[in-house]
Amino acid sequence: MKEKFYITTPIYYPSRKFTLGNCYTTVACDAIARFNRMLKKDVFYLTGTDEHGQKIATLAKEAGKTEMEYLNEIVDDAKELWKMLDISYDDFIRTTDQRHIDVVTKILEKLYEKDEIYKSVYKGWYCTPCESFWTEAQLVDGKCPDCGRDVHEEEEESYFFKLSKYSDKILNLYNENPEFLLPKSRVNEMVNNFLKDGLKDLCISRTSVKWGIPVSFDKKHTVYVWVDALSNYISALGAFSDNDEKFQKYWPADVHVVGKEIVRFHAIIWPALLMALDLPLPKKILGHGWLLFGGDKLSKSKKNVSKDVLDPRILYKYYGSDPIRLYLIKEVPFGADGIYTQELFLKSFNAYLANSVGNLVSRTVSMIKKYRNGQIAKITDNLENELGKNFQNDIKKQINYIFKDMEKLDISHALEGVLGIFNRSNKYIDETEPWILAKEENNKNLDIVLYNLSEVILKGATLLLPFLTDKPKLIFKAFNKEVPKYFENIDEFNIEDNIIVSDIENIYQRLDIDKEQEKLWNENENI
Ligand code: ME8
Ligand code: MG
Repeated sequence: MKEKFYITTPIYYPSRKFTLGNCYTTVACDAIARFNRMLKKDVFYLTGTDEHGQKIATLAKEAGKTEMEYLNEIVDDAKELWKMLDISYDDFIRTTDQRHIDVVTKILEKLYEKDEIYKSVYKGWYCTPCESFWTEAQLVDGKCPDCGRDVHEEEEESYFFKLSKYSDKILNLYNENPEFLLPKSRVNEMVNNFLKDGLKDLCISRTSVKWGIPVSFDKKHTVYVWVDALSNYISALGAFSDNDEKFQKYWPADVHVVGKEIVRFHAIIWPALLMALDLPLPKKILGHGWLLFGGDKLSKSKKNVSKDVLDPRILYKYYGSDPIRLYLIKEVPFGADGIYTQELFLKSFNAYLANSVGNLVSRTVSMIKKYRNGQIAKITDNLENELGKNFQNDIKKQINYIFKDMEKLDISHALEGVLGIFNRSNKYIDETEPWILAKEENNKNLDIVLYNLSEVILKGATLLLPFLTDKPKLIFKAFNKEVPKYFENIDEFNIEDNIIVSDIENIYQRLDIDKEQEKLWNENENI
C-alpha cells in the first residue's frame, strides 16, 4: 500500500480578497504536496475558508449583502486564484459546509459528554479582527498583542474548555517529540509566552456572536470561531460521520502548515482538543515566517496598500504562475521572514528563470541542433572523462541535499538546490567549451558533454515540477519526453536513451526591469 501524506494550509478568512500573503502558504503546501506525490505517496492536500465570526457578519452587512452572498463571491475569487497558481488541492473545505457543521456539532457534544467543558461567565478583552480573547495581562499597551489594534471588554455567559488541565501534557508532547513544532525556536515561544505559567481554560462559545455554528445543547450559544476553524482538519475527512474512510486513512495529519501568528492555536489548543476527544495528534506543525512588505506583514485587515503591494492576479496576468511560485517559495527562508518588493520579484525572474534555467535549456538545445543535427546517441562509457564525472558527482550530491531539505520541509533551500543544478550546468558548459570541441570532427567528448547536459537538464526539470508547474513542462517537450510523474532513478546517470531535440521557444524571456516597473505601477493605480 502507498504511504499516505496529509498536508493542510490554514483555512483563510474570506473577509477580503486573498493577498500574496495567503498565496504564500498555499503555494508552499502545494510544492510539498506535489513533491510527495512524485515520491509515490498517497497525498491529501486540504485548504479552505474560515467563514464564521462577527467580523464576516459585519462586513457583509456593510456591503449590503447576506453573509453567504458576501462569502461566495470571495470564495469564488479565491478558487480562481488557486487555479491561476496551479494549486493541486484535493479538497476545499468551507466552515459553512453542512459536512463541517455536523462534525463541529458532534465535537461539542462529545466534549460536553466527556465533561471537558462547563458553563461560566466570560470576562476579558476581545480583538474582533483576530477573533481572539486576551486577558488583561496579555495586552500590550492595552492593545491586541498580535496585531496592535484596539480590543474591547466582553462579559457574557460562555462554555469553557478545560484547557488548563493540558499544560503538562502539551509540555510533554514537545519534550517527547522534538520535531512536533518546527522550527524549534517556536517551541520556546510557546513555552515562555503561554505554557510556563500554566494554561487558562478557554472560552469556546459566545452568545453575542450570531454568525456561527449553534451549540446543539444550548442554542443561544455559537461555537467560538477558533474551535470551529481548527475542526476543519478532521471535518473535511468525515470524522465522526458514517462516511469516515478518509478520516481512517489520512488522519493524523502529517503536517499542518501555518503562519507564525497562529502557531499557538495549532500547537496548544488543537492538540489539547484532540486529546480531550481521544484522537491522535498531528505529526507536525510548521510555523513559517511572514512575507513582509516595507517591514510589515501583508495583511487583509491592515490594508497596507502602496505602489508595491501587487495583486497576485496582476502578476499572473503578465508573468504567469512560475515567477510567483518561485518568488514566494524562495524568498521566505525556513522559519524566518521574507521580503516582497516588485523590483526584487522582477530581478528574481531574470536571475533564476531567464539567465539560469531558460538560458541553459536554449543553449543546450541549440548546440545539439547545430553540432549534431539535433541528435546524440546514448553514451555508456563516460568514466574516463574527468570534467563529466565531476559534474555528475556534483549533481548527485545536490539531488541528495534537495531530498533531505524536503524531508525537513525546508522548501526554500530545496528550491535553491534545484536552481543550483542549472547554475552548475551553465558552469559545465564554461568548463568544457563545447564550441571548441566542435571544431574537431566527431569529437567524442562533445557527445559526452551534450549528453550529460541533456540528462542533467531533464533531472533539473523533473525536480522543478513540484515548484514551477507551467514552463518546465516545455523542457520535456523539447527533448521529446513525457512529463514524468515520479522521481524515478533521478540520481542515476547514463540512463537516457538517444537524445533527440525539437525546437523550443525561449521559455523565460528576460525582462526589462524599468519598463515592467512602469507597467505594474500603472496597473496598481487602477485598483
Ligand atoms: O488566521 N506572509 O486566517 P487568515 C505569510 N482563519 N503568510 C501569510 C501572510 C504573510 N504576509 N499573510 C497571510 C486565519 N498569511 C484563520 C486560520 S486555521 C484553522 C484558521 C497566511 O486569513 C499564513 O498562513 O488571517 C497565515 O497564518 C494565514 O495566511 C492567516 O490567514
Ligand atoms: Mg490573520
